[in-house]
Amino acid sequence: MTAPEPTQPTGATTPAALRAVVTGASSGIGAATVRRLRALGWDTVAVARRADRLAALAEETGTSYVVADITAAADVARLAEEVAAGGPVHALVNNAGGALGTDSVEGADLDRWRRMYETNVLGTLAVTQALLPALRNSGRGDVVVLTSTAGHGTYPGGAGYVAAKHAERVIADTLRLELVGEPVRVIEIAPGMVRTEEFSLTRFAGDQAKADAVYAGVDEPLTADDVADAITWTLTRPHHVNIDHLMIRPRAQVSNTQVARRSS
Ligand SMILES: NC(=O)c1ccc[n+]([C@@H]2O[C@H](COP(=O)([O-])OP(=O)(O)OC[C@H]3O[C@@H](n4cnc5c(N)ncnc54)[C@H](OP(=O)(O)O)[C@@H]3O)[C@@H](O)[C@H]2O)c1
Repeated sequence: MTAPEPTQPTGATTPAALRAVVTGASSGIGAATVRRLRALGWDTVAVARRADRLAALAEETGTSYVVADITAAADVARLAEEVAAGGPVHALVNNAGGALGTDSVEGADLDRWRRMYETNVLGTLAVTQALLPALRNSGRGDVVVLTSTAGHGTYPGGAGYVAAKHAERVIADTLRLELVGEPVRVIEIAPGMVRTEEFSLTRFAGDQAKADAVYAGVDEPLTADDVADAITWTLTRPHHVNIDHLMIRPRAQVSNTQVARRSS
């Protein structure tokens, strides 16, 4: 895959010598964000559990990478050490996460809910805590949190993911309040339907037919690169400009429950 054309809108800051850590970079939005940032000249550290996919991304983009599970305390500590050894860090993109199942509340599987909470909420919390001192010391730090439109409203069968994304949003909102006056922005990106290779496949435990049905008849769901474009846009605003929340959906989707689908 070729790196996207850099789109640096007028007024963007010069990103030379800036460095970002992107979690969940072995696929989808995280990988697309690394591609975009690299194309704009950023140094990046890609993070995920699958080493082979990170190595392929490194080969393609020149990113460095750290293999880590964000729900494992020892991995997060090692990640912080390896990042610190590489120099200052200016941005953390908390992107690792996802949904498991579409359980009703009545029929919810507690283990799936727990895993969603651990990855989306506690994983984001742990990595943010670990890197915040370095982000602050950089003199111009950014914490990006990939929530979802599921962090802003619910839908039948979504409660486990919706609860986790609401909690993740609260971390961003609270951290922004707690850091007021410090040189660290806190940015929440809330995408709607994004057709990535793995999000729905993971949600439906590898059932490709169920994953494909999510996007059936929808004209142009968002792509990973659409969201990566939004992320890099927020990161490249002059540093006194904080994009608190950015909600982004495909035109065909107006809410979590209303999506235009072609019938044939
Ligand atoms: N796709 C959508 O429709 C959509 C919409 C709104 C919001 N989002 C959010 O956007 C983010 C990215 O979504 P996506 O569609 O790009 O998903 P994806 O393709 O399934 O990617 C998820 C990434 O997270 C990583 N990951 C999962 N658990 C991890 C862990 N414990 N430690 C480290 N890395 C972990 C995965 O890598 P490894 O398996 O290699 O660890 C993978 O790189 C997620 O937070 C998701 O909730 C997605």
